[in-house]
Amino acid sequence: MRRQAPAAARNRQPILDVLEPHLPKRGLVLEVASGSGEHTAHFAQALPDLTFQPSDPDENARASIDDWTTTLGLANVRLALALDAAAETWPITEADAIACINMIHISPWASTVGLIRGAARLLPKSGTLYLYGPYVRAGVETAPSNLAFDRDLRARNPAWGLRPMEEVVALAQANGLAAPLVIEMPANNLSLVFKRN
Ligand SMILES: C[S@@+](CC[C@H](N)C(=O)[O-])C[C@H]1O[C@@H](n2cnc3c(N)ncnc32)[C@H](O)[C@@H]1O
Repeated sequence: MRRQAPAAARNRQPILDVLEPHLPKRGLVLEVASGSGEHTAHFAQALPDLTFQPSDPDENARASIDDWTTTLGLANVRLALALDAAAETWPITEADAIACINMIHISPWASTVGLIRGAARLLPKSGTLYLYGPYVRAGVETAPSNLAFDRDLRARNPAWGLRPMEEVVALAQANGLAAPLVIEMPANNLSLVFKRN
């Protein structure tokens, strides 16, 4: 049941390098849209003093996540939750930090709205919301590979597509998150690190 995503194998360490300084030493890290579960598994191996809560609305994804946890014997990873970011209520009410990797462009905008609202609800003051993925940015030429990816996503589902970073930031700020740190990542992706005000 374990899945392997080639992109996750490539980006998990660069993501961890950016994310780790923004995590508490101890506490609970919620991952929204965990997919195969390889990010949570990698982070949990590297940071054994933290507890990780993976999640995904997709049943097969949850099976993959839990399979990685069992196979690697990760005592600091909880069973995957069925969490739909767009839902009004989530099956978890507190988290010290939240990470969401590669969901915003490949789900309807309502998922991003729900994700930001959920982060504002769950996070403590100064808690981190970490987002990773491709965006379009005002005043920055979009890489041809990202333009092609955007066209492909919209052909698959008109509600998907690369989001303007500024719209995600405005939504976050309207919900009580501070202006993010923006870090350029390999393969024309961005890390956005928000803190709850
Ligand atoms: C491209 S995959 C990314 C998986 C993983 N984070 C990674 O980077 O390898 C997108 C994931 O978003 C999940 N997803 C889609 N809509 C969602 C929603 N409304 N709430 C939470 N997860 C969602 C999908 O089930 C899928 O696992």
